[in-house]
Amino acid sequence: MIVFDRVTVEVAAAERTKRLLDDLSCRLDSRRVALIGDNGSGKSTLLRAIDGLIRPDRGRIEVNGLDPATQTSQVRRQVGFVFTDPMSQLLMPTAVEDVELSLTRLAPQRAERSRRARQALAEWGLEKVAERSVYDLSGGERQLVALISVLATDPAIVLADEPTTLLDRRHRRRLEEVFDRLSQDLVVATHDLDWAARFEQVVLIDQGRVVAEGGPQETIAHYRRLTDG
Ligand SMILES: Nc1ncnc2c1ncn2[C@@H]1O[C@H](COP(=O)(O)OP(=O)(O)O)[C@@H](O)[C@H]1O
Ligand SMILES: [Mg+2]
Repeated sequence: MIVFDRVTVEVAAAERTKRLLDDLSCRLDSRRVALIGDNGSGKSTLLRAIDGLIRPDRGRIEVNGLDPATQTSQVRRQVGFVFTDPMSQLLMPTAVEDVELSLTRLAPQRAERSRRARQALAEWGLEKVAERSVYDLSGGERQLVALISVLATDPAIVLADEPTTLLDRRHRRRLEEVFDRLSQDLVVATHDLDWAARFEQVVLIDQGRVVAEGGPQETIAHYRRLTDG
């Protein structure tokens, strides 16, 4: 369970301070939560605040009882983050090495780590690309490797910031189906409203505030009314 209690995040902009989150409160208490809203509404800021990458100027955040601003490393042990561009998180030359790197803490022994990395890739049908350079993978394969690397750290919660935005329709659908099968708690920012409709809880963000929140149908309908004028 993730709670935002009157959270404000500000940055100094040219002549004034800009509010990225504006006194935002919400309770993410479903296993699968989708964040929707226009570009610049504050979705990425909210996700980064959960992970302690951004700290609130005012207000408080709780992630399974922990405060990401002061208990950052404990929170990070529970949380995995998937970015829009998988190349920003694939650090090693090949897919299998990248998953191995993520397993460093859970499988300190090299042979065991290698076995588990291959097994994790195979679980999602990627055994054939294990030795391939991450530069020679398709966008969908890269994002899947990035997700498998995140899962290898055994997170309780997976945060994903528009993980399918850069993908074509076919790969987007495939990756969304993988996310749908995850057993971890999930908080995903997405512009794909058909996908958001499959989540338990949908939160609509606008100008750094929660403007609607609840089941997918009502919240998505609210968003459509906002955007379609
Ligand atoms: N470091 C920063 N400095 C100034 N403005 C920022 C910074 N980070 C984000 N913003 C602005 O804050 C707003 C919210 O950004 P963001 O959380 O990335 O929105 P979203 O992910 O919904 O597109 C946007 O207008 C963005 O341009
Ligand atoms: Mg964003």
